Amino acid sequence: MSSSGVAADPPIASPYSGHDGLAAQLGIDVGGTSIKGAIVDLRTGQLAGPIHSAQTPDTATPEQVALLVRQIAAAEQWIDPVGVALPGVIVGSCLRHAPNLSSAWEREGALDRLRTPGDAEIVLINDADAAGLAELTYGRSGRSDNGLTVVLTFGTGIGSALLHDGDLIANSELGGLLVGARRFEDVASGRAISDGELTPAQWAECAQPYFDQLEAMLNPGRWVLGGGLSEQFEQYASRLKLTKPVDIAHLGVHAGIVGAAAAVKRSGSPEALSGRR
Ligand code: BGC
Repeated sequence: MSSSGVAADPPIASPYSGHDGLAAQLGIDVGGTSIKGAIVDLRTGQLAGPIHSAQTPDTATPEQVALLVRQIAAAEQWIDPVGVALPGVIVGSCLRHAPNLSSAWEREGALDRLRTPGDAEIVLINDADAAGLAELTYGRSGRSDNGLTVVLTFGTGIGSALLHDGDLIANSELGGLLVGARRFEDVASGRAISDGELTPAQWAECAQPYFDQLEAMLNPGRWVLGGGLSEQFEQYASRLKLTKPVDIAHLGVHAGIVGAAAAVKRSGSPEALSGRR
């Protein structure tokens, strides 16, 4: 951990050192377990510098998260708009459905706490929508035979993004799906796997009824599964019985960072579009 409170890992050389006018953007992914940010090359979706990361404080208040976001931007001497992915639904100036952060995020004005050191614009996006946007923009998933791809991210919670014919349909929150009395995210998230020490077979048994419901309700033509578990996820996902093809998220654990950066470009922020640094 550096004196700024965020650690840089790994310390790789960035082709953007010196902030010299290339098409790059800072993306920050706020998760229930860690907060990570990096400069992203918007032409390729690759990280173009070190990942700055810090543990999400247990209380995860807007003030605590805002401080870490500022520290990450300051570590990159970033003064332009920043993309921030959050684990909840952005409604006006507050964040709803964010069980992995403090309930203080639900108060009006909570999102206004997020500021960059230079007071530049902050573009907000749900974290799973960010992962979906990253897959849409830079991923390698095949075409969905009926136009609909469902992206699910398995981390501290379960996030979802619906991709339809090249567009992102935001705020789908499929991790809240109930089968019986239990929510999908409570039985099958990355946290549920580590807390319950679930084997891939046990996980698939818990998760299958939710996938069956989603197939019946949404009829996706393709699934993209990823999130914090991406690296070992193949062995879990391969146990599911699904009628449509499954891809493991191409951008892996960095999808939230990449999607947060891509969200700035999508928002049409003039500085971001010009690629000015
Ligand atoms: C939140 C979602 C989020 C997901 C993954 C859930 O608890 O409700 O908005 O996408 O966690 O972080």
